[in-house]
Amino acid sequence: MKKLLYSEKEIKKRVRELAALIDLDYQCRELTVICVLKGSVIFMTDLIREIKTPLTYDFIFLSSYNGAKSTSCIRLEKDLTLSLKDKHVLVVEDIFDTGFTGEFLRERIMAEEPASLKFCVLLRKKDVDLNLKIDYTGFDIGAEFVVGYGLDYRQKYRQLKDLHILSEEEL
Ligand code: IMP
Ligand code: MG
Repeated sequence: MKKLLYSEKEIKKRVRELAALIDLDYQCRELTVICVLKGSVIFMTDLIREIKTPLTYDFIFLSSYNGAKSTSCIRLEKDLTLSLKDKHVLVVEDIFDTGFTGEFLRERIMAEEPASLKFCVLLRKKDVDLNLKIDYTGFDIGAEFVVGYGLDYRQKYRQLKDLHILSEEEL
């Protein structure tokens, strides 16, 4: 059984608010948005269409999850294609759980010597590593396992329009 966490309408509203905050911060400095595949693709495509600041985007594909467990072993499945040197980089992530993926991203992107680096995360779980600064957060949530709006359980449920909590029996 799935339980509704945030509806499509609530997500849309929050995405618009995040885009407004981003526009305010960047003014007219051009942005390079990095979408972290696969989970962030729906959030990122909705978010950039609300952002007015000029931008380009690129993808990086990382994997760490094994079913419903986060692991510290991050695999780089597909690397960036754009140079990020001297760019204002905004990483768009679906969810921060342990923060290992975020740490990996920070290191990978800082190696490119960007002008600045910020993180925008739709969902932040409770025990995320506090050392990792998140600049824009959609929603703070508990420890539950969430699916929908791009987030999966064993590659399923990504196409759901709302965010749902997956029950223990389904994990
Ligand atoms: P972290 O490295 O532990 O922060 O995990 C980050 C990645 O794990 C996210 O980008 C997601 O792909 C996945 N993940 C963590 N929690 C959930 C969840 O509740 N539902 C679906 N995927 C999750
Ligand atoms: Mg992800």
